Amino acid sequence: MGLVKLAAAALAAGATFFAFSARADGNLNLICSADVVICEQMEGAFEKKTGISVNMVRLSSGETYAKIRAEARNPKTDIWWAGTGDPHLQAASEGLTLEYKSPMLGELHEWAVKQAESAGYRTVGVYAGALGWGYNTEIFKQKNLKEPKCWADLLDPSFKGEVQIANPNSSGTAYTALATLVQIMGEAEAFDYLKKLNANVSQYTKSGSAPVKAAARGETAIGIVFMHDAVAQTVEGFPVKSVAPCEGTGYEIGSMSIIKGTKNLDNAKKWYDWALSADVQSSMKEAKSFQLPSNKTAKVPEEAPKFEDIKLIDYDFKTYGDPAKRKELLERWDREIGAAAN
Ligand code: F6P
Repeated sequence: MGLVKLAAAALAAGATFFAFSARADGNLNLICSADVVICEQMEGAFEKKTGISVNMVRLSSGETYAKIRAEARNPKTDIWWAGTGDPHLQAASEGLTLEYKSPMLGELHEWAVKQAESAGYRTVGVYAGALGWGYNTEIFKQKNLKEPKCWADLLDPSFKGEVQIANPNSSGTAYTALATLVQIMGEAEAFDYLKKLNANVSQYTKSGSAPVKAAARGETAIGIVFMHDAVAQTVEGFPVKSVAPCEGTGYEIGSMSIIKGTKNLDNAKKWYDWALSADVQSSMKEAKSFQLPSNKTAKVPEEAPKFEDIKLIDYDFKTYGDPAKRKELLERWDREIGAAAN
Protein backbone atom coordinates (compact mmCIF):
# COMPACT_ATOMS: atom_id res chain seq x y z
CA MET A 1 0.00 0.00 0.00
CA GLY A 2 1.38 3.43 -0.93
CA LEU A 3 2.06 5.95 1.76
CA VAL A 4 -0.94 8.09 0.87
CA LYS A 5 -3.30 5.08 0.77
CA LEU A 6 -1.89 3.81 4.05
CA ALA A 7 -2.46 7.17 5.72
CA ALA A 8 -6.01 7.34 4.34
CA ALA A 9 -6.79 3.83 5.62
CA ALA A 10 -5.34 4.65 9.02
CA LEU A 11 -7.38 7.86 9.16
CA ALA A 12 -10.57 6.02 8.21
CA ALA A 13 -9.90 3.37 10.85
CA GLY A 14 -9.20 6.13 13.38
CA ALA A 15 -12.41 7.90 12.49
CA THR A 16 -14.42 4.69 12.90
CA PHE A 17 -12.70 4.00 16.19
CA PHE A 18 -13.39 7.55 17.38
CA ALA A 19 -17.06 7.37 16.44
CA PHE A 20 -17.32 4.05 18.24
CA SER A 21 -15.45 5.26 21.30
CA ALA A 22 -17.55 8.42 21.48
CA ARG A 23 -20.66 6.26 21.68
CA ALA A 24 -18.97 3.83 24.04
CA ASP A 25 -18.18 6.71 26.38
CA GLY A 26 -21.88 7.09 26.93
CA ASN A 27 -24.06 9.89 28.19
CA LEU A 28 -24.42 12.38 30.97
CA ASN A 29 -27.73 13.99 31.94
CA LEU A 30 -26.91 17.40 33.33
CA ILE A 31 -29.02 20.11 34.88
CA CYS A 32 -27.23 23.44 34.71
CA SER A 33 -28.44 26.27 36.97
CA ALA A 34 -26.07 29.02 35.82
CA ASP A 35 -26.54 31.30 32.82
CA VAL A 36 -27.33 29.43 29.61
CA VAL A 37 -24.21 30.77 27.84
CA ILE A 38 -21.80 29.22 30.36
CA CYS A 39 -23.99 26.09 30.49
CA GLU A 40 -23.53 25.61 26.73
CA GLN A 41 -19.81 26.41 26.90
CA MET A 42 -19.31 23.80 29.63
CA GLU A 43 -21.40 21.20 27.79
CA GLY A 44 -19.41 21.64 24.56
CA ALA A 45 -16.00 21.66 26.27
CA PHE A 46 -16.75 18.49 28.25
CA GLU A 47 -18.04 16.63 25.21
CA LYS A 48 -14.95 17.62 23.25
CA LYS A 49 -12.60 16.54 26.02
CA THR A 50 -14.22 13.21 26.90
CA GLY A 51 -16.39 12.07 23.98
CA ILE A 52 -19.24 11.72 26.48
CA SER A 53 -22.52 12.98 25.09
CA VAL A 54 -24.16 15.52 27.43
CA ASN A 55 -27.91 16.11 27.57
CA MET A 56 -28.13 19.51 29.22
CA VAL A 57 -31.17 21.38 30.53
CA ARG A 58 -30.98 24.86 32.04
CA LEU A 59 -33.23 25.26 35.06
CA SER A 60 -33.18 27.74 37.93
CA SER A 61 -31.94 26.49 41.29
CA GLY A 62 -35.35 26.15 43.00
CA GLU A 63 -36.85 24.50 39.93
CA THR A 64 -34.03 21.95 39.88
CA TYR A 65 -34.46 21.15 43.56
CA ALA A 66 -38.20 20.57 42.96
CA LYS A 67 -37.49 18.35 39.93
CA ILE A 68 -34.92 16.25 41.77
CA ARG A 69 -37.31 15.77 44.68
CA ALA A 70 -40.13 14.79 42.33
CA GLU A 71 -37.90 12.27 40.53
CA ALA A 72 -36.31 10.79 43.66
CA ARG A 73 -37.67 7.29 42.99
CA ASN A 74 -36.58 7.27 39.38
CA PRO A 75 -33.87 9.90 38.80
CA LYS A 76 -33.45 11.18 35.26
CA THR A 77 -30.57 13.47 36.12
CA ASP A 78 -26.96 12.44 36.79
CA ILE A 79 -25.40 15.70 37.86
CA TRP A 80 -26.51 19.18 38.89
CA TRP A 81 -23.92 21.82 38.16
CA ALA A 82 -24.15 25.39 39.51
CA GLY A 83 -27.03 27.26 41.05
CA THR A 84 -27.08 28.73 44.53
CA GLY A 85 -25.80 26.55 47.35
CA ASP A 86 -28.90 26.59 49.58
CA PRO A 87 -31.04 24.22 47.48
CA HIS A 88 -28.01 21.95 46.95
CA LEU A 89 -27.70 21.78 50.77
CA GLN A 90 -31.43 21.15 51.06
CA ALA A 91 -31.20 18.31 48.53
CA ALA A 92 -28.18 16.91 50.40
CA SER A 93 -29.94 16.94 53.72
CA GLU A 94 -32.87 15.04 52.18
CA GLY A 95 -30.50 12.38 50.85
CA LEU A 96 -31.27 13.24 47.23
CA THR A 97 -27.62 13.63 46.31
CA LEU A 98 -24.67 11.29 46.52
CA GLU A 99 -21.61 11.48 48.76
CA TYR A 100 -18.45 11.97 46.71
CA LYS A 101 -15.01 13.03 47.92
CA SER A 102 -13.39 14.37 44.78
CA PRO A 103 -9.59 14.11 44.52
CA MET A 104 -9.82 17.80 43.53
CA LEU A 105 -10.95 18.93 47.00
CA GLY A 106 -7.38 19.83 47.98
CA GLU A 107 -7.26 22.42 45.18
CA LEU A 108 -10.28 24.33 46.47
CA HIS A 109 -10.72 27.38 48.68
CA GLU A 110 -11.75 26.70 52.25
CA TRP A 111 -15.29 28.07 51.68
CA ALA A 112 -15.89 25.53 48.93
CA VAL A 113 -14.56 22.63 51.02
CA LYS A 114 -16.61 23.76 54.03
CA GLN A 115 -19.70 23.63 51.84
CA ALA A 116 -18.84 19.99 51.06
CA GLU A 117 -18.02 19.05 54.68
CA SER A 118 -21.22 20.60 56.02
CA ALA A 119 -23.25 18.43 53.63
CA GLY A 120 -21.39 15.16 54.29
CA TYR A 121 -19.72 15.58 50.86
CA ARG A 122 -23.06 15.44 49.05
CA THR A 123 -22.30 18.78 47.38
CA VAL A 124 -19.31 21.08 46.82
CA GLY A 125 -18.71 24.78 46.12
CA VAL A 126 -17.92 25.74 42.53
CA TYR A 127 -18.02 29.54 42.75
CA ALA A 128 -19.14 32.42 44.96
CA GLY A 129 -21.10 35.58 44.23
CA ALA A 130 -22.51 38.51 46.24
CA LEU A 131 -26.05 39.82 46.05
CA GLY A 132 -26.84 43.40 45.04
CA TRP A 133 -28.53 45.07 42.10
CA GLY A 134 -27.89 46.67 38.77
CA TYR A 135 -29.61 49.77 37.43
CA ASN A 136 -29.95 51.36 34.01
CA THR A 137 -28.07 54.68 34.17
CA GLU A 138 -29.88 56.08 31.10
CA ILE A 139 -33.34 55.48 32.56
CA PHE A 140 -32.12 57.01 35.81
CA LYS A 141 -30.94 60.12 33.95
CA GLN A 142 -34.15 60.43 31.90
CA LYS A 143 -36.40 60.03 34.93
CA ASN A 144 -34.16 61.97 37.26
CA LEU A 145 -33.88 59.09 39.75
CA LYS A 146 -31.37 58.94 42.61
CA GLU A 147 -28.98 55.97 42.89
CA PRO A 148 -30.29 53.46 45.49
CA LYS A 149 -27.24 52.67 47.63
CA CYS A 150 -29.04 50.75 50.39
CA TRP A 151 -31.81 48.17 50.67
CA ALA A 152 -33.87 50.91 52.37
CA ASP A 153 -33.53 53.18 49.31
CA LEU A 154 -35.32 50.64 47.09
CA LEU A 155 -38.58 51.47 48.93
CA ASP A 156 -38.55 55.05 47.66
CA PRO A 157 -41.88 55.83 45.88
CA SER A 158 -39.92 57.22 42.91
CA PHE A 159 -39.14 53.56 42.03
CA LYS A 160 -42.81 52.54 41.69
CA GLY A 161 -42.98 49.90 38.95
CA GLU A 162 -39.24 50.21 38.34
CA VAL A 163 -37.90 47.16 40.24
CA GLN A 164 -37.71 43.52 39.20
CA ILE A 165 -36.60 40.55 41.29
CA ALA A 166 -37.13 36.84 40.75
CA ASN A 167 -39.62 34.58 42.52
CA PRO A 168 -37.83 32.77 45.39
CA ASN A 169 -39.72 29.53 44.68
CA SER A 170 -38.02 29.08 41.31
CA SER A 171 -34.90 31.19 41.72
CA GLY A 172 -31.95 30.63 44.01
CA THR A 173 -30.99 34.29 43.64
CA ALA A 174 -34.34 35.43 45.01
CA TYR A 175 -34.24 32.83 47.81
CA THR A 176 -30.79 34.21 48.75
CA ALA A 177 -32.32 37.71 48.77
CA LEU A 178 -35.17 36.56 51.01
CA ALA A 179 -32.80 34.78 53.43
CA THR A 180 -30.43 37.77 53.37
CA LEU A 181 -33.15 40.25 54.32
CA VAL A 182 -34.36 37.95 57.12
CA GLN A 183 -30.79 37.76 58.45
CA ILE A 184 -30.23 41.52 58.24
CA MET A 185 -33.63 42.66 59.60
CA GLY A 186 -35.25 39.72 61.40
CA GLU A 187 -38.16 37.80 59.84
CA ALA A 188 -41.07 40.09 60.73
CA GLU A 189 -39.29 43.22 59.52
CA ALA A 190 -38.02 41.51 56.40
CA PHE A 191 -41.57 40.58 55.38
CA ASP A 192 -42.74 44.08 56.18
CA TYR A 193 -39.92 45.36 53.94
CA LEU A 194 -40.88 42.94 51.14
CA LYS A 195 -44.52 44.07 51.30
CA LYS A 196 -43.41 47.67 50.87
CA LEU A 197 -40.97 46.69 48.13
CA ASN A 198 -43.82 44.90 46.35
CA ALA A 199 -45.33 48.34 45.62
CA ASN A 200 -42.27 49.07 43.46
CA VAL A 201 -41.91 45.63 41.86
CA SER A 202 -43.33 45.28 38.35
CA GLN A 203 -42.52 41.58 37.92
CA TYR A 204 -41.25 38.52 39.80
CA THR A 205 -39.30 36.63 37.16
CA LYS A 206 -38.59 32.89 37.01
CA SER A 207 -34.83 33.10 36.60
CA GLY A 208 -32.56 35.05 38.94
CA SER A 209 -30.61 37.07 36.38
CA ALA A 210 -33.65 38.03 34.23
CA PRO A 211 -34.28 41.29 36.16
CA VAL A 212 -30.92 42.82 35.25
CA LYS A 213 -31.20 41.60 31.66
CA ALA A 214 -34.52 43.49 31.56
CA ALA A 215 -32.78 46.55 33.05
CA ALA A 216 -30.07 46.32 30.37
CA ARG A 217 -32.76 46.35 27.65
CA GLY A 218 -34.46 49.34 29.24
CA GLU A 219 -37.57 47.36 30.29
CA THR A 220 -37.09 48.20 33.96
CA ALA A 221 -34.81 50.57 35.86
CA ILE A 222 -33.52 48.22 38.59
CA GLY A 223 -32.88 44.47 38.79
CA ILE A 224 -32.08 42.85 42.14
CA VAL A 225 -29.55 40.14 41.22
CA PHE A 226 -26.13 38.74 41.99
CA MET A 227 -23.63 41.50 41.28
CA HIS A 228 -21.70 39.37 38.77
CA ASP A 229 -24.87 39.18 36.64
CA ALA A 230 -25.10 43.00 36.64
CA VAL A 231 -21.40 43.25 35.72
CA ALA A 232 -21.99 40.85 32.80
CA GLN A 233 -24.49 43.32 31.32
CA THR A 234 -22.04 46.22 31.72
CA VAL A 235 -19.33 44.18 29.99
CA GLU A 236 -21.82 43.47 27.16
CA GLY A 237 -21.94 47.26 26.66
CA PHE A 238 -25.28 48.04 28.32
CA PRO A 239 -25.64 51.15 30.54
CA VAL A 240 -25.84 49.11 33.76
CA LYS A 241 -24.21 50.09 37.05
CA SER A 242 -23.97 47.59 39.90
CA VAL A 243 -24.47 48.37 43.56
CA ALA A 244 -23.45 46.57 46.78
CA PRO A 245 -26.09 47.46 49.41
CA CYS A 246 -24.82 49.73 52.25
CA GLU A 247 -26.47 47.73 55.08
CA GLY A 248 -24.59 44.60 54.01
CA THR A 249 -25.56 41.73 51.78
CA GLY A 250 -25.69 37.96 51.44
CA TYR A 251 -23.84 35.76 49.01
CA GLU A 252 -24.06 32.37 47.35
CA ILE A 253 -21.69 29.47 47.29
CA GLY A 254 -22.72 28.16 43.89
CA SER A 255 -22.55 24.37 44.15
CA MET A 256 -22.52 21.03 42.34
CA SER A 257 -24.03 17.68 43.33
CA ILE A 258 -24.26 14.15 41.94
CA ILE A 259 -27.82 12.83 41.99
CA LYS A 260 -28.44 9.72 44.05
CA GLY A 261 -29.49 6.86 41.80
CA THR A 262 -27.57 8.20 38.79
CA LYS A 263 -27.22 5.61 36.05
CA ASN A 264 -24.00 7.23 34.80
CA LEU A 265 -21.95 7.51 37.96
CA ASP A 266 -18.51 7.27 36.34
CA ASN A 267 -19.36 10.01 33.88
CA ALA A 268 -20.87 12.16 36.62
CA LYS A 269 -17.61 11.85 38.60
CA LYS A 270 -15.64 12.76 35.48
CA TRP A 271 -17.69 15.94 35.08
CA TYR A 272 -17.37 16.70 38.81
CA ASP A 273 -13.57 16.48 38.89
CA TRP A 274 -13.25 18.32 35.56
CA ALA A 275 -15.55 21.17 36.65
CA LEU A 276 -13.42 21.72 39.75
CA SER A 277 -10.20 22.12 37.74
CA ALA A 278 -8.44 25.47 37.46
CA ASP A 279 -8.49 25.45 33.65
CA VAL A 280 -12.22 24.96 33.38
CA GLN A 281 -13.00 27.56 36.04
CA SER A 282 -10.56 30.05 34.47
CA SER A 283 -12.42 29.76 31.16
CA MET A 284 -15.80 30.74 32.67
CA LYS A 285 -15.14 34.40 32.02
CA GLU A 286 -15.20 33.70 28.25
CA ALA A 287 -18.95 33.18 28.72
CA LYS A 288 -19.12 36.43 30.76
CA SER A 289 -19.54 34.46 33.97
CA PHE A 290 -17.83 36.61 36.56
CA GLN A 291 -18.27 34.63 39.78
CA LEU A 292 -15.33 33.96 42.10
CA PRO A 293 -13.93 30.51 41.19
CA SER A 294 -13.59 27.85 43.91
CA ASN A 295 -10.28 26.45 42.64
CA LYS A 296 -7.45 28.33 44.36
CA THR A 297 -5.35 28.57 41.21
CA ALA A 298 -8.13 29.48 38.78
CA LYS A 299 -7.82 33.01 37.38
CA VAL A 300 -10.19 35.44 39.06
CA PRO A 301 -11.73 37.53 36.28
CA GLU A 302 -10.70 41.20 36.50
CA GLU A 303 -14.35 42.13 36.12
CA ALA A 304 -15.49 40.02 39.12
CA PRO A 305 -17.03 42.14 41.89
CA LYS A 306 -14.40 42.60 44.61
CA PHE A 307 -15.52 40.81 47.76
CA GLU A 308 -13.20 42.98 49.87
CA ASP A 309 -15.19 46.09 48.80
CA ILE A 310 -18.58 44.53 49.66
CA LYS A 311 -20.05 44.49 53.15
CA LEU A 312 -20.90 40.79 53.43
CA ILE A 313 -23.07 39.36 56.18
CA ASP A 314 -22.03 36.14 57.88
CA TYR A 315 -24.62 34.20 55.84
CA ASP A 316 -25.97 31.28 57.85
CA PHE A 317 -25.92 28.45 55.29
CA LYS A 318 -26.81 25.83 57.89
CA THR A 319 -30.09 27.51 58.83
CA TYR A 320 -31.14 28.76 55.37
CA GLY A 321 -29.93 25.61 53.61
CA ASP A 322 -32.33 23.57 55.74
CA PRO A 323 -35.41 22.14 53.93
CA ALA A 324 -37.81 23.01 56.77
CA LYS A 325 -36.63 26.65 56.83
CA ARG A 326 -36.96 26.84 53.05
CA LYS A 327 -40.53 25.53 53.19
CA GLU A 328 -41.50 27.89 55.99
CA LEU A 329 -40.04 31.01 54.34
CA LEU A 330 -41.48 30.21 50.90
CA GLU A 331 -44.95 29.47 52.28
CA ARG A 332 -44.91 32.81 54.05
CA TRP A 333 -43.63 34.53 50.88
CA ASP A 334 -46.45 32.95 48.83
CA ARG A 335 -49.08 34.03 51.36
CA GLU A 336 -47.89 37.53 52.05
CA ILE A 337 -46.04 38.62 48.91
CA GLY A 338 -46.82 36.28 46.01
CA ALA A 339 -50.58 36.36 46.60
CA ALA A 340 -50.57 40.17 46.79
CA ALA A 341 -48.54 40.38 43.59
CA ASN A 342 -51.00 38.38 41.49
O1 F6P B 1 -26.51 33.81 36.24
C1 F6P B 1 -25.63 33.07 37.05
C2 F6P B 1 -26.21 32.91 38.44
O2 F6P B 1 -26.40 34.15 39.07
C3 F6P B 1 -25.35 32.03 39.31
O3 F6P B 1 -24.27 32.70 39.91
C4 F6P B 1 -26.37 31.50 40.30
O4 F6P B 1 -25.91 30.36 40.96
C5 F6P B 1 -27.56 31.26 39.40
O5 F6P B 1 -27.47 32.23 38.38
C6 F6P B 1 -28.86 31.36 40.10
O6 F6P B 1 -29.90 31.32 39.18
P1 F6P B 1 -31.41 31.28 39.65
O7 F6P B 1 -31.64 32.47 40.53
O8 F6P B 1 -32.18 31.40 38.36
O9 F6P B 1 -31.63 30.02 40.37
